[in-house]
Amino acid sequence: MKEEYRAIPLTERVYWVGAIDWNLRDFHGYTTHRGTSYNAYLILADRITLIDTVKKPFKEEMLSRIASVVDPRRIEIIISNHSEMDHSGCLEEVARELAPKEIYASPMGVKTLKEIFPNFSEVKPVADGEKVSLGNMTLSFLETRMLHWPDSMFSYLHEEEILFSQDAFGMHLATQERFADEIDYDILNYEAATYFANIILPYSPLVTKLINRVSALGLTFRMIAPDHGPIWRKNLDHIIGNYSRWALQKPSMKAVIAYGTMWQSTEKMARHIGEGLASKGVKVAIMSCDVFHRSDVIYELLECGAFIVGTSTLNNNMLPAVADLLTYAKGLRPQNLIGATFGSYGWSGEGALQAMEILKEMKVEIQEEPIRVKHVPAAFDLLSCRHLGERIATEIEKRVKEIS
Ligand code: FEO
Repeated sequence: MKEEYRAIPLTERVYWVGAIDWNLRDFHGYTTHRGTSYNAYLILADRITLIDTVKKPFKEEMLSRIASVVDPRRIEIIISNHSEMDHSGCLEEVARELAPKEIYASPMGVKTLKEIFPNFSEVKPVADGEKVSLGNMTLSFLETRMLHWPDSMFSYLHEEEILFSQDAFGMHLATQERFADEIDYDILNYEAATYFANIILPYSPLVTKLINRVSALGLTFRMIAPDHGPIWRKNLDHIIGNYSRWALQKPSMKAVIAYGTMWQSTEKMARHIGEGLASKGVKVAIMSCDVFHRSDVIYELLECGAFIVGTSTLNNNMLPAVADLLTYAKGLRPQNLIGATFGSYGWSGEGALQAMEILKEMKVEIQEEPIRVKHVPAAFDLLSCRHLGERIATEIEKRVKEIS
């Protein structure tokens, strides 16, 4: 029996026709505890238009939702706001089946789609600021390079005042509800911040520029419709304000201690550094790399003051789980952090030194040489760890005042 899905109206003329991926738990290294959605949007203009498509295995779900309101073969225009495969994976097949008259992407999008689908050459470029008439409605386009890929762009539907923002303002959250105002506020904030930290963070300066640019254009927004998670239709200033704030990456009275341990010596050191930080009023997240996923550590690093990393030494190296976290964190380029490293060892003790070098590459301001302890920390060593935490707390407080 053919499965039937329904489109969800945003307005009388605009529908959500995407797919819900309840089971996704990994998005290129980011653990997605609550799944995701791939959002596509149907505009019932004179020239019926589809904004983005979905990940390839979900093509039939999208087509079924479209078919619940209109024959999919009546689609005349497809817009590809972002060519990453979670949004373009079925584009070539959909284009073959539906034969739209026009497919548009940014100039970089045209290039990227050609690289992904070598035999697919029907995509036309739209320039930054260009308008495309849908007959009785108009779309205009805004290049948003690197948010999240070089090809990315926003589309704005003037008559409905809807911004189709692809990855930006999205989150990985599978829900039956389609609007943010229908979802628990704490879940929304947590998932939006986790998404920002794991996807958008490296491009924070571009977010600031983009928000300033969009403000200068004087457009009004009735809704922001991203390509993942719920649609924003109320209190849009809340998510825009969060993006503005997160992009600044200002430090707060908070520290993350992430560590890997072999025989709990490094773990004890972590806990005593945490005691020192907390005694001076710093909120501390103490996270074993064997227990917490790398993307959960990155969430905690958002608007954090210090990143402190501990590792035992294994065969002259840091522990693999710590290397995993640091490789991931380095790519995301968190800013305005101070840090330190520490760890126990049996005979050579390179781990904490290696971790320190990576933190330096990340431009984390190292406060002092690593505390390294042979085998098991004595009471004196644990007191040193506590004092390190206290000194870092004092420095965080100073920097929070400076960068506020
Ligand atoms: Fe949702 Fe950058 O893809």
